[in-house]
Amino acid sequence: MRVLFTVSECVPFAKSGGLADVTGSLPNALKENGLDVRVVMPLYKIISDKYDAILSFVGHINVNVGWRNQYCGVYTTKLNNIDYYFIDNKYYFDREGFYGHFDDGERFAYFSTACIEFIRLIDFKPDIIHCHDWHTGMIPFLLKYKYRYDELYQDFRSIFTIHNLQYQGVFSKECLKDFFDLGEEYFSSHLLEFNGCISYMKAGIVSADQITTVSPTYRNEIQYEFFGENLDGLLRDKSYKLSGILNGIDTKIYNPSDDKLLKYNYDMSTIEKKVLNKKDLQQELGLPINSHIPIIAMITRLTCQKGIELVQHILHEVLQEDVQFILLGSGDSEYESYFRYMEMNFKNKVRAYIGFNEELAHKIYAGSDIFVMPSLFEPCGLAQMIALRYGTIPIVRETGGLNDSVCSYNELTDEGNGFTFHNYNAHELLFTIKRAFRYYYDKDIWRRIMSNAMDSDFSWYCSAKQYKSLYEQVRTLV
Ligand code: GLC
Repeated sequence: MRVLFTVSECVPFAKSGGLADVTGSLPNALKENGLDVRVVMPLYKIISDKYDAILSFVGHINVNVGWRNQYCGVYTTKLNNIDYYFIDNKYYFDREGFYGHFDDGERFAYFSTACIEFIRLIDFKPDIIHCHDWHTGMIPFLLKYKYRYDELYQDFRSIFTIHNLQYQGVFSKECLKDFFDLGEEYFSSHLLEFNGCISYMKAGIVSADQITTVSPTYRNEIQYEFFGENLDGLLRDKSYKLSGILNGIDTKIYNPSDDKLLKYNYDMSTIEKKVLNKKDLQQELGLPINSHIPIIAMITRLTCQKGIELVQHILHEVLQEDVQFILLGSGDSEYESYFRYMEMNFKNKVRAYIGFNEELAHKIYAGSDIFVMPSLFEPCGLAQMIALRYGTIPIVRETGGLNDSVCSYNELTDEGNGFTFHNYNAHELLFTIKRAFRYYYDKDIWRRIMSNAMDSDFSWYCSAKQYKSLYEQVRTLV
């Protein structure tokens, strides 16, 4: 079976968040299951700058964006056995950053149409087009309504995966004609209309043959008003074609026993070497070197979704204890300033690295004791899975994929790979951190929790099989 991933970001070429990790690692897992998976994405400036030497030109076509007629070059490369295609148009993509431009609606309208049209140019006719998030939400819609009489596309089936319902790609009503040359008849509440505008996310939901989201819990949550971002009614309506498949992580990249970015590799049988990584981390960040002090870490985008405000409420109190706190991330300036301020005031206890640094991230996963993710909502979350793999114990709120991957420690049965709390409440987080501290000082129990954590399996093995059977099911739809 042939599957084409249409994505706005993908590791190693372009990454702004977890979406890129997933679109970067899932194709390989599917390939191992015998599927022919290829990926198409925009040729952003950073990709042409960095990968120019390995890209080869396939050809070019012209693509209509409403009344505009735009150039569309196609480049390709093979990496780790996967074929990648890149859509080249300097006007739309030769810029810094991937999103947040004034004309994102037009850029991704172009990309969506280009993803359909460029198939004429290549010798690969997919059975399934697998689209990810709002940037590619118009593809299933265009296939269903604009290209349905084009013979080439008759047998294509589509899957739309929601990685984060909060970002929806909502643009003014006029875009329908201006970018897609579609008439008013598509501006109806059961198709594209959303609060008087059009929504690319909604387009994907209404028209894809199947919708998936990235964890079973999030699949259920988004059908409620609180998580539904004003699309909960529609999602309830479409629940017959909505499933939740938990993401995996790339267990080769995130492997404490073979991680080149660490000074000391370890697994459960050599777990004492984790402490060496801890000292290394303390030294690198200029914190007091002491293996007994618990290190709490966060690696995160600094946005409201991530529950940063809960941390703000209680961090002072946590810092009363003998503890060190490390943050790595960037995002809203209010949160960035807050963590800088805390570092300034607690020089011996807090480090805030504002930005991103892959090497430091690995060192933090390996060198910390506790990993905090108190998200308000979390479609899947990958950081908690990585932390678990490195024997760093997660404290998470029971939402989305956090709920599906972390199971709270139970002292009666000795089961559990982390600590969880239920309500979006700062003191519940504080009590859970204090509960974790209690066990941290009981070395036997902590070792058992670490062992449970490192035994948890978050490879793509099971999830890739679920995608495969979904593809098979969708392929037979008439
Ligand atoms: C988004 C979600 C995150 C998920 C990732 C990959 O970034 O916020 O929870 O893990 O997509 O699916």
